[in-house]
Amino acid sequence: MGIEKNAQKLMGLFPDRVAGWLFDRIKGIPLVKKAIYRELDAMLDDIRDMVKPYTGKFPAFSRLPGSGLEKDNILSMMTAISECESSKWEDGYVSGAVYHGDRGHIDFLNRVYALNSQSNPLHSDVWPSAAKYEAEIVSMTAAMLGADKTPDPVCGVVSSGGTESILLAMKAYRDRAIETKGIRHPEMVVPVSAHAAFDKAALYFGIRIIHVPVTSDFIADVAAMKRAVTKNTIVMVGSSPCFPHGVIDPIEELSAFAAKKKIGFHTDACLGGFMLPWAEKLGYPVPPYDFRLDGVTSMSADTHKYGYAAKGTSVVLYRNPELRRFQYFSTTEWPGGLYFSPTFAGSRPGALSAACWAAMVSMGEKGYLDAAKRILSTADRIKKGISEINGIKILGNPLWVIAFASDTVDIYHVMERMGEAGWVLNGLHRPSCVHVCVTLPHTRPGVADRFVQDLAGAVDHVRANPSETGRMAPVYGMAATLPVRELVGDMLERYIDLLYEVDP
Ligand SMILES: Cc1ncc(COP(=O)(O)O)c(C=O)c1O
Repeated sequence: MGIEKNAQKLMGLFPDRVAGWLFDRIKGIPLVKKAIYRELDAMLDDIRDMVKPYTGKFPAFSRLPGSGLEKDNILSMMTAISECESSKWEDGYVSGAVYHGDRGHIDFLNRVYALNSQSNPLHSDVWPSAAKYEAEIVSMTAAMLGADKTPDPVCGVVSSGGTESILLAMKAYRDRAIETKGIRHPEMVVPVSAHAAFDKAALYFGIRIIHVPVTSDFIADVAAMKRAVTKNTIVMVGSSPCFPHGVIDPIEELSAFAAKKKIGFHTDACLGGFMLPWAEKLGYPVPPYDFRLDGVTSMSADTHKYGYAAKGTSVVLYRNPELRRFQYFSTTEWPGGLYFSPTFAGSRPGALSAACWAAMVSMGEKGYLDAAKRILSTADRIKKGISEINGIKILGNPLWVIAFASDTVDIYHVMERMGEAGWVLNGLHRPSCVHVCVTLPHTRPGVADRFVQDLAGAVDHVRANPSETGRMAPVYGMAATLPVRELVGDMLERYIDLLYEVDP
């Protein structure tokens, strides 16, 4: 880790932008470049066995097998692989990721999936059921998020996940701005805490993204957001809550300003859309965030998170069909016939929509309310436990996505010790912190107490062994402190390459 340590030390001497510029130049010198990439390769080698745990344990195929394998053999191999992975999330060791996790619920969704596995919403003539399920998913979600408290005809579509919902909404705003306002250089204004999907949308659709720093409570800074709006702004964004620190932005003030400026406002409720309506009913402090606010013109809410559907569905909502139409695609010129599709994909898995619909109607309002109650009270217990650990502080004022940091110990090293105890948490940066996103598996007896105990033990260990560095801590440390985007980005891309390597 010599070069990385030295680079960090060197960079620490300069303000971020100067350091980035300087490091870019140093990195251009062939010898330095070689050394840096040698370091990156060594780091990736270090984590290769974590990324590829099945090497040598199960057959790997870099080409099709000559003859197909026996189906029973395939099933037993895949069952064995799945068993290696399920205990982690079933036992409540994973932050986010699996939101329901109950076997009965999963088996039920699997049965619904099996019934509908051939369904494709692209062929609504063959599977009108797909259109029925999707229309009802959208309507139920909209009603939950304030649509029935406004005269406006709130509408939407089902997408494949939170990222797609966000991309779709941003594309709709861009195309509307081009067509109705002639804006050629569109901009979006987002708090830095908004999900990376907004950056992806900016990149894909040629929208300039303005990242606005958040307040010391980690919520969007209203005054700074207002100042960032220009004549080219097409949309402002707020999260309820944001992924990193689980806090809810001041959507009321932001959306009122957007309305005044006649621009769009998107509430990203991917994480909170299926929690906050129930949290509010349970009496938790939930500031307004949904279509009850006139200025909110679109929302994203993920059915595959706290909607308890299988992975692969989300809902994007619009205040009116005129805005939604800018999301659609249709062409009359293609020799393949008249073609149209509401989202990015062509053919889509109707079975996932069917399973999503089944999850929603099987939960019902009461099911969602009970689930939220269990999650929020478990989160309260965890927050209390964390706040009693010496040297650890909770960031902002979150409900159930709890980010914590430390001024006295290396928080990434703490996260790694938690990993050794079986926990899979999320490492975040700017500022350096770790979060746990509480889900239903965490509400099982003993899990919250075990989390707090293990965290206290991890902090004690790191405090007693300040010179010990683990495997992942330096990687997070580097991403958090080195201002060189290109270098860190390179490392992430090499990591993706690694994921696509077939076991030798
Ligand atoms: C607030 C927020 N927005 C968007 C997303 C993106 O969702 P997905 O991973 O389903 O694309 C997430 C994911 O955690 C999120 O927390």
